Amino acid sequence: MSENQKKFMDQESMHGPDNYKPLPVVLSEAKGVWVWDVDQNKYLDMMSAYSAVSHGHAHPELVKVFHNQSKTLALTSRAFYTNTLGPYLETITKMSGFEMALPMNSGAEAVETAIKAARRWAYRSKKIEPNKAEIIVANGNFHGRTTTIISFSSEPNSKDDFGPHTPGFVSVEFGSSQAVEEAINKNTAAVLFEPVQGEGGIIEPPDNWLPDVREICDKNNVLMILDEVQSGLGRTGKLFAYEHSNIRPDGLILGKALGGGFMPVSVFLSSEEVLQWMNPGSHGSTFGGNPLGSAIAKRSLELLEEEGLIENSRIMGEYFKNSLLELNSGIIKEIRGKGLWLGVEIDPKYIEGKALSKLLLSKGILCKETRETTIRFAPPLIIRREEIDWAVEIIGDTLKRIERKEK
Ligand SMILES: Cc1ncc(COP(=O)(O)O)c(C=O)c1O
Repeated sequence: MSENQKKFMDQESMHGPDNYKPLPVVLSEAKGVWVWDVDQNKYLDMMSAYSAVSHGHAHPELVKVFHNQSKTLALTSRAFYTNTLGPYLETITKMSGFEMALPMNSGAEAVETAIKAARRWAYRSKKIEPNKAEIIVANGNFHGRTTTIISFSSEPNSKDDFGPHTPGFVSVEFGSSQAVEEAINKNTAAVLFEPVQGEGGIIEPPDNWLPDVREICDKNNVLMILDEVQSGLGRTGKLFAYEHSNIRPDGLILGKALGGGFMPVSVFLSSEEVLQWMNPGSHGSTFGGNPLGSAIAKRSLELLEEEGLIENSRIMGEYFKNSLLELNSGIIKEIRGKGLWLGVEIDPKYIEGKALSKLLLSKGILCKETRETTIRFAPPLIIRREEIDWAVEIIGDTLKRIERKEK
């Protein structure tokens, strides 16, 4: 590692806590699917900021929107109307088919919004007794980092010594319809699931699970809320991952790619029946729905369709998965996921995920393990066949060398 890079790494860890353990590279530039470090080494981004850079870095249209909107009107707070929020909300509700959208910034804030909306609905519409509402979640979930959200995490390091934890959550086995059915009682307000567990290692539930959960929720007057902060907006080859199961949830949480790779923009989408209870003063955010974020989000959504990014995710995802399978590597135990969102399960008898990420970094590919033995590949949805071929050749060569115990 160069002195130049070391200087920036040391500076980060000297002045900030080690709550992340980044790969040893200092990035300074990016364009499309490529990024450069401060020494001008070039990398293919197969990480996309945990799926937030779906449009590619510095998408020219979004740069234009960012530039124009930032000098016209960037921030007002929701104390006033703007000429950007309405058009954005109209676009996202039309595209998604949900009646209403409540804008926030980070994914975790939108999850909090969903939890609050579900509880209000439960007390005011379903008439659950005060302070008794329960929300069913799944073991192995990841929904963010707030104190309430980590209260229902099953990852010890996410929650240990951050208590007291927020009550009102019941965790069940991911993918089990029976577990959901058994956990439901008269106080159940909602279920809150990721359709595919992203941070959990790109874990897909059985095909019948979401349709079963839909039926169970309908039977019991329980809201079905899906967190598609990571899986949504084309990542799996459909606009939303739940479309693979031919169902519709009652509430949907989006974030990451909604900000076009520029801004933290998130949203909770639902029906008027659910969101009617979010009255003035009940919820909000100084930055939520700000003009700059709204303009970027609106254009980001339009570009997904205009530039065929969802279709590209489906086609290139399938091509990428098949190309990796064709490597026939003994190190790859399984490849999970759809679209441009693959979890490659590696055999730790050869190498751990972290070490493989570092090796690939040294050969010009940015990716990151999630859990110890899963490498997640989530390139921008604009990636082309030749870029995938380039990556697969490097991945194949790296795996072969590991099997032969070469460098
Ligand atoms: C499914 C899911 N929900 C919520 C979040 C939290 O989003 P943020 O980091 O923007 O708060 C994430 C982040 O990885 C996520 O994957």
